[in-house]
Amino acid sequence: MTGEGSSGAQRPSTGGEPPVPAEAAPPAGTASSPSAGARSALPVERLVTAGQGFSQPQYTDNFYETVGGHATFVKLVDAFYDGVANDDVLRPMYPEQDLGPAKERLLLFLEQYWGGPKTYGEQRGHPRLRMRHMPFRVGPQARDHWLQHMRAAVDSLGLAPLHEATLWDYLDRAAHSMVNAAD
Ligand code: HEM
Repeated sequence: MTGEGSSGAQRPSTGGEPPVPAEAAPPAGTASSPSAGARSALPVERLVTAGQGFSQPQYTDNFYETVGGHATFVKLVDAFYDGVANDDVLRPMYPEQDLGPAKERLLLFLEQYWGGPKTYGEQRGHPRLRMRHMPFRVGPQARDHWLQHMRAAVDSLGLAPLHEATLWDYLDRAAHSMVNAAD
């Protein structure tokens, strides 16, 4: 883990390739990885000096578990899709009558991304999220509606400020990287 994608990512210009794919690994210290697990056995002073320069403490090595696991992510996508179901811009974009399967796909993806079960990959393969959104016209308006419902959903979780900021920073960047059309 080089810290790629953890900071300094610029919002892509509309239509350009995003510098950081939405499925790129979370920043060091927020998701489980063999190296994070191994490092957590080191004494504390080694934890903060092990990387190049200052690195994020490694004891929060599974964001998924830290924020409450499955129940938290279910709550997040439930609240988000409650918003989508009543949104005049977003609702018509979803091909299926029943939003349940789309909700399940987002749930599994986010759980996997943050260090939970790898079920999304087992069922759907590599996320390739930008490619999977190409059939849909995702312009700035759709993005902003998506983010508006996601913001309300994140707020409904009542997370600690650092966790909330970590989650939101990712969702905000991911949504900007998904734009593939002008309004
Ligand atoms: C920017 C606004 C966005 C819009 C308008 C949008 C819309 C859609 C639509 C219409 C689908 C198809 C529904 C389905 O059958 O699954 C979809 C699928 C999906 N979206 Fe988005 N999306 C947006 C952003 C995002 C972001 C930021 C993420 C991840 C953080 C995401 C994750 C997913 C996933 C995981 C799927 C299912 C992919 C699969 O087929 O396995 N979307 N989205």
